Order: sequence, then C-alpha cells, then structure tokens
Amino acid sequence: MIHSRIVGTGSFLPPRVVTNEELSKKLDTSDAWIQERTGIKQRHIADPSQASSDLALEASRRALDAAGVKASDIDLIIVATSTPDFIFPSTACLLQAKLGVKGCAALDVQAVCSGFVYALATADSMIKNQMAKKALVVGAEVFSRILDWNDRGTAVLFGDGAGAVVLAAGDKPGVHASVLHADGSQVGILSVPGNVCGGKIIGSPFLQMQGKEVFKLAVKVLDESAREVATAAGIRLEDIDWLIPHQANVRILEATAKRMGLPRDRLVVTVDHHANTSAASVPLALDEFVRAGKIRPGHKVMLQGVGGGFTWGASLVTM
Ligand code: ACO
Repeated sequence: MIHSRIVGTGSFLPPRVVTNEELSKKLDTSDAWIQERTGIKQRHIADPSQASSDLALEASRRALDAAGVKASDIDLIIVATSTPDFIFPSTACLLQAKLGVKGCAALDVQAVCSGFVYALATADSMIKNQMAKKALVVGAEVFSRILDWNDRGTAVLFGDGAGAVVLAAGDKPGVHASVLHADGSQVGILSVPGNVCGGKIIGSPFLQMQGKEVFKLAVKVLDESAREVATAAGIRLEDIDWLIPHQANVRILEATAKRMGLPRDRLVVTVDHHANTSAASVPLALDEFVRAGKIRPGHKVMLQGVGGGFTWGASLVTM
C-alpha cells in the first residue's frame, strides 16, 4: 500500500508585529482583557504589498528546503486560504508561478480555519490513489484584510502568516487517518457575508462572529474529531506525543486537551505570539515545534482544524 508522509515543514510570518498595547491605543480594549480571554499577546500583520501567495511562497521555499525537494519535483499544490489574492485564478496557481514551475495540478481549498486539515487530507488521498507523488500543502492567510479594525470583538483575535508541508509517497505512514466534517446550518456564527457584484461589494466585507457560540461548538467538535481520528488510526489518545489544534484561543486549546485527558506539556500553543491565522495556524505551529527540535521524527502528532462553515476535521500523523 502507498502511504504519504510529511518530509519537510516551513513557515513565514510577515515582520511587522502588532502588540496588544498598540491595539489598545486605537481600540477600547486592553492587553489584560485580550490575554485573559484569549491568551494572545501579539500578532504579525502583512504589509499592504504582501498577498497570501507571497506569504505562501516563503513558507513553501522553507518547506521544500527542509525536505530537500525541488519545486520542479512537486506534482500537486494545494493552498488552503479564505483570503485569496484574487477571486480567480486560485492562489495555488499564483504560488506555482512564483515558484517558477508549471504543469502540476494546483487548487485552493476553502474551509476557513479547517482549511489546512482539509488540504492535507485531500493531498494524502491523492497520493494514496497515485494521482501525485510529492505534494506541497500550504495554509496562507492575510486575515488583517477582512477585519473591521474598529470592532474590538474581532480585530484583536487574528493575524497573518503561512505554513507549508511537503507530503511525499512512501511505504510506511505517515498520515494514518483523517476525518473531515461540516455543518452548513451554522453558517451564521462565523462568516464574511459579502460578495462582489457588478463592481460593488454586496453585504459585508468584514468578519462577523458570535464568539460564545463559536467557542462552545469548537470545544465540542475538537474533542469529537480527536476521538474519531484516533479510532480510525487505531492509535490510543494517550499515545499521542503532540496535539496541534487550530490556534484560535488558549482557552479553547486547553479545554480540548483537558477533555482528551492529554497533559498540558503535549499541547502545542503558538496563538500567544501568532494570534489566529486561520488556515495557516496548524502548519505554522507544526513548523515552529519541528524547528525547535520538540516535534521529532517518529512522534505521533494530531492536527486539528475548526472554523467557519462550520467545518472541522483532524489528521493523525507520524512524523
Ligand atoms: N476588549 C475589551 N472588551 C471586549 C473586547 C475587547 N477586545 N471584546 C469584547 N469585549 C467586551 C464585550 O463588549 C462585552 O462587554 P459587555 O459585557 O459590556 O457587553 C464583554 O467584553 C464580554 O464579551 P463576550 O463576547 O461575552 O466575551 P467572551 O468571554 O465570550 O470572550 C471571545 C469573547 C474571546 C471572542 C470568546 O467568545 C472566544 O474566544 N470565542 C471563540 C471565538 C474564536 O476563537 N474565534 C476565532 C475564530 S473561530 C475559529 O477560528 C474556530
């Protein structure tokens, strides 16, 4: 049987850091409130000249370097993003061009904060079905562009960034199992309910969120998907070395680890210094812990996404 395995990781954060203190000069908020409710201390914000494909390019170069793989050897590019450069073509096609290659399949996945897990599961399936041998799977976002910077309830929560992995065919796993879910009846609790029509914005171009509903649903589905993917993989929860849930809020992350009975030191937390980077959050966190030498070859890692749609999912991988 053909398996797929993560053979390299990379990430990129735009250099500009915006602290809670800086935000509290423009908004009726405080460092104490933001840290207490979310655990966030700072976020990175892209320069107006940087699009999702630019952040994706840097993260991809680093992942390719780490894997020792040339861009020309990649036969599938999947970019998870809710903040694409354009309506079309896809950010994956723009990334392919920026990498200086052509010919391989390239597509975007739109599952908001679950996007990376959706993209990983898709690439894993395509490798197992022999449609690709080496895939570049990226999460890249510029959420700063879809925030109402006068709304303290949402502006403090998000940041920009990108993370990438190279997934390669091999004879042992790798990606043991993935589970993906959605509940479109919850579309209203987290959305950017706008569109471009006839040259005008119809609806709202800004993120809207019912925070308490999102919080409750996120904790519930993260717990359910963790158990479901562990069963599908035939791996006990207590045997997982690292849990990387979507980095939305420290309170959501800690509640998830607690419900799973996983000790705090196996929980990966980066939301304190990245804030919520949506589809980029999981690969960013993975790369940070790989480069710090904490996540090592052979470790069992659970990756979890949850976000607008409502969408959620999980993958269990051996590094
Ligand atoms: N600074 C100061 N006060 C604030 C701020 C802020 N930035 N934001 C809201 N408040 C105020 C509210 O106006 C309200 O004031 P009031 O009582 O006078 O009306 C008070 O704080 C409490 O507001 P709540 O919304 O009830 O606060 P809550 O404890 O629910 O925390 C939060 C809000 C942090 C958004 C929380 O609901 C949450 O984390 N939800 C999960 C949402 C999330 O993580 N979303 C990310 C995207 S979803 C995803 O990625 C899965």
